[in-house]
Amino acid sequence: MTRPNPICVALDTPDLSRAVALSKQLLGHVGMLKIGMEFFYAHGAAGYEAVAIIGIPIFLDLKLHDIPNTVAQGITSLLKLAPAPIITNVHATGGLDMMKAARDVVKGNTKLIAVTILTSLSNEDLWAAGFAGDKKTDEQALALAKLTHEAGLDGVVCSPLDLAKIRGALPRKFLTVVPGIRPATVAAHDQKRVATPKSAIAAGADILVIGRAITGADEPAQAAQDILQSLV
Ligand code: C5P
Repeated sequence: MTRPNPICVALDTPDLSRAVALSKQLLGHVGMLKIGMEFFYAHGAAGYEAVAIIGIPIFLDLKLHDIPNTVAQGITSLLKLAPAPIITNVHATGGLDMMKAARDVVKGNTKLIAVTILTSLSNEDLWAAGFAGDKKTDEQALALAKLTHEAGLDGVVCSPLDLAKIRGALPRKFLTVVPGIRPATVAAHDQKRVATPKSAIAAGADILVIGRAITGADEPAQAAQDILQSLV
């Protein structure tokens, strides 16, 4: 059995024509594209559909966080996009009831995952925001991953460094979507906690979110193929 292509390219641009051009170049070379706030707030449903129609499945990374009813209604609206995203997400800190409400409106092939603790936050940031002082970011991320699983969601976004803990605590089919990926030959940019594609897959990553290492390459499709080769 051939494994599905684990590369999800982050289309981090507010530029519609660039997003469309990149998507066309990457068709057949990557498994998924990630559309986030930067693009969606600029171009809305029409921009989303202009990219999605090209044929690469979309991870719609809007990180919803509000009361359960509002999030459920928001997800319902997002699932009317055509073609619907293959993955979308909420913040796990929205709580168990919010995640369950979101899960209950998800249908079809769409998977719902949660963001645990943003990797931009330090221990001190969490404590200043009122999180329990006896838990560090990785422990808090694991606690939220367990809550996400309890709510019946399909998985989490997590750092490569959190994979071991999550894989040790939750069933293998719980999806892990992992940013902070850098081929050994590419600069880390502003990412601090990075892993190579091969080491992230070995640690149990299901989907590798890769932005600049592919979008910033002279030949993005070739960069994606090189990364796939590095996994063999
Ligand atoms: O260019 P780069 O590969 O660093 O892009 C990574 C993508 O993953 C960006 O869209 C970034 O916002 C996202 N991301 C991340 N770290 C997280 C969550 C999302 O880098 N913890």
